[in-house]
Amino acid sequence: MKEQLELIKSNALTALDAAETPAALEELRVKLLGKKGELTAVLKQMGKLSPEERPVMGQMANSVRSAIEEKLEERKTAIHAAVLEAKLAAEAIDVTIPGETVAMGHQHPMNMVLQEIKDIFVGMGYTVVDGPEVELASYNFTRLNIEEGHPSRDRSDTFYFDDNNEILLRTQTSPMQIRYMENHKPPLCMLAPGRVFRKDEADATHSPMFHQIEGLVVAEDITMGDLKGALINIMQKIYGHDAQVRFRPHHFPFTEPSCEMDMQCHKCHGTGEVDGKVCSTCHGEGWIELLGAGMVHPKVLENCGIDPEKYSGFAFGIGLERTAMGRLKINDLRLIFDNDVRFLNQF
Ligand code: PHE
Repeated sequence: MKEQLELIKSNALTALDAAETPAALEELRVKLLGKKGELTAVLKQMGKLSPEERPVMGQMANSVRSAIEEKLEERKTAIHAAVLEAKLAAEAIDVTIPGETVAMGHQHPMNMVLQEIKDIFVGMGYTVVDGPEVELASYNFTRLNIEEGHPSRDRSDTFYFDDNNEILLRTQTSPMQIRYMENHKPPLCMLAPGRVFRKDEADATHSPMFHQIEGLVVAEDITMGDLKGALINIMQKIYGHDAQVRFRPHHFPFTEPSCEMDMQCHKCHGTGEVDGKVCSTCHGEGWIELLGAGMVHPKVLENCGIDPEKYSGFAFGIGLERTAMGRLKINDLRLIFDNDVRFLNQF
C-alpha cells in the first residue's frame, strides 16, 4: 500500500507539471482526488490493514493528498499567469505606431462668407428666414409688380414646370419679400438667403444656379439714405473700411427708385486691365455688380396689405457668389461650383 501511495504521488506530480490548461488541470483533480479518484480507491482498502498500520498509512495518505493539493494550487496559479500573459501579448496595442490621419473637412468657402454676412445682419437686428426654391409665378413675378409679358418672365430665361408658366424655379429671392410681408406687420427687418435659378450660360461671373441674399426693411420713415447706409456699412464690414463701392441708377419693377451697387474689381483694382490685357474677372469694367436694391414699390406694399402712405421700406438682393469672390479673391465664379478639393482646401 505504501508503494501504491508513493506511485500515485509521483505520477500525480509529474502529470500536474505537464498540464498546460485549466481544463487539463481540472480533469486531473477529479482523477486524483475525486470520489472515484485514485487516492479514494486506495483509502477504501484501509480496512484490510492491521490496527497498527492504519494510522501510519492514514497519515501517509493525508500527506500525499496535501502534496497533490499544493501542486494543484501551484499549477493553477502558474497556468493562470501564462494564459493572461498570452492574452496580453496577443491583444497588445503598440501606442507608438503613427495613427492614420483623418482628413478634416471644413465649410465651403461660399458658406463661410454667407455665415459672415448673416452674422453681420443679425447683429443689425435682421431675422434670417428660408423659403421655397420651387415657387409660384404670382410670388416670383406678379405680386412683385412684374407684369405678364415682362421679358424676365420669358420661357427662355426661366425654368418653368408647367405649360401655363405658373410654377417655376425662383429666379430671385425677392418672392420672400411677399411671403414675409404676408405674415408680418411693420416694423420688419428680414434677411432671406437662398438658391435662385436662371437659364444662363456659365462664365467667369454667371451660373444657371447661384445664391442671393434678400434683405427687406419696412417701417415708418425709411428712406434711400437708410438703404445706402446699411449697404455701405455691410460692405465695409465684409471688405474692410477702404472697400470701394459705387451705386448706379437702375430699374426693378418692385422698387422705386432702384439702383445697383458694384464693388471695385479685386483683380484689376478698377483699372479693367491686367498685364496689358482686358481683366477676365470683370470683363474690363473695373467693377463687379454685387446687388440690386431700391425703395419698396408702393404697389408691392399694397399687394401685401401694408399701407404705403404710412410705411416705406427698402429691399436689396445681394449676389452671394460674387460677394465671396471679392471677399476671398477668387477670379472665376465657376471655381465655387466645381468643388475641386484642391481649390476648396485653400480656404
Ligand atoms: N431681385 C433682384 C435681382 O435678382 C435684386 C433686387 C432685390 C432688386 C431687391 C431690388 C430689391 O436682380
